[in-house]
Amino acid sequence: MTATTPDVETPDALLRQVLLADHRGHDPYALLDKLHDYGSAARTSLGFVAVWGHAEVESVLRLPGQWKSHPDYEFSTPYLRLTSDQVEQLKAASGHLPPWLVFSNPPYHTRMRALVSKAFTPRRMDAMREQITAKADTLLDAIDPTRPVDIVAALTQPLPQYAIGEILGLSTYDSDSFVRHSREQSLLKDPKSTFADKLARMHDRGQWADEIRTLIAERRRETRDDVISALLDAEADGDRLTEPEMISLIMLLFAAGFDTSNNMLSNGVHALLTHRDEFGRLVADPALARAVTDEVLRYDTPGFDTFYYTIGEQQVGDLILAEGTPVMLFLGIANHDPHTYAEPGLFRIGRTGPPPVSFGAGAHLCLGINLARVVGDVVYQALARRFPTMTPADEPAVRVPDIEFRGFQTLPVVLRPE
Ligand code: HEM
Repeated sequence: MTATTPDVETPDALLRQVLLADHRGHDPYALLDKLHDYGSAARTSLGFVAVWGHAEVESVLRLPGQWKSHPDYEFSTPYLRLTSDQVEQLKAASGHLPPWLVFSNPPYHTRMRALVSKAFTPRRMDAMREQITAKADTLLDAIDPTRPVDIVAALTQPLPQYAIGEILGLSTYDSDSFVRHSREQSLLKDPKSTFADKLARMHDRGQWADEIRTLIAERRRETRDDVISALLDAEADGDRLTEPEMISLIMLLFAAGFDTSNNMLSNGVHALLTHRDEFGRLVADPALARAVTDEVLRYDTPGFDTFYYTIGEQQVGDLILAEGTPVMLFLGIANHDPHTYAEPGLFRIGRTGPPPVSFGAGAHLCLGINLARVVGDVVYQALARRFPTMTPADEPAVRVPDIEFRGFQTLPVVLRPE
């Protein structure tokens, strides 16, 4: 599908032009920031109601118990509705695994969330800070600072891969395999994904499940200090996880945490490289790193959108939505709402205003916030302290050609130009 220039500028035309473009990751803000001139939400011809106002996005996220996947057509997205026969084929291809937490509905979601929260705790994530700092230093030590280097391959990808791998207790071999599988799975969200694509992805999920089954069997024989072992022990109100539930949770923890953090880091490095005054402030006071993470999450949101289905009739902005309406929440655009943030298109460390909606809110609020913050803190501090003259290299940076996962495929920099 190729984008066409709309004859008339409407929310629908703007969204179609960006979401159906071949290279959707390029600069969605150039067109979609204009949505704020048209209220906060609109019906579209793309199969969903689009919501982009900051207050409205947050209120939908916080509506109690919204559906993440429609009960009648699990695995469908607003872009592609599946028949019940197709849904059965997808389930069979993965070996009938339960849905991922992030795509599951209450009461299953409520039960899973209680159990995973016993094993994947903020304390466990915070305790990783020293190890993550040491790993970041090792990765930076391995770079010739006077030569161009792709900071994605050298730092922003391997660091979160290491952090989540350590938390789950993965070997390097397993963690490389988890990267490949999680990237396959992320393609399920692609608006252009056909049923055949989804079937291939679900076969891949089945293979990934076999690998995880082996890891669980190892932990059953010998328990370790990692989240896989902790999930085996997790108990809430006398309830425990089944093995298929554990498998789905382990997949999700890696898939939800790895490229989102990688993208947040590369978006941040890019923002600092292109805003020298702000980088200068960080160099002068590396303790601002925490505020850099907050502003990067707002300014260049890694998870650009997410969708829900309404339960019951709901009002969003001026629209009355019938039960079961697919609602696409544009988190990235909400974070640029001029009614919420002054001059939202500017990258400004330490700005005031409500927190961005980058980690979601409500029932599905991100479980990895602490880990993402630690990783951001460590990287932005290390770069400011060690490489205050870092510059972009001559070779251009390349965006991930996608919009849901907004980040960089390659970001060439010179850490210490001569
Ligand atoms: C900068 C990095 C990250 C960003 C921007 C991010 C963003 C998000 C967002 C927007 C959601 C809500 C999705 C929705 O409502 O549909 C979410 C959920 C989730 N995130 Fe994160 N995330 C990040 C890092 C992590 C990490 C490091 C982990 C774990 C290792 C993680 C695990 C999860 C899980 C398990 C959920 C699902 C929660 C549920 O459905 O109850 N995330 N994340």
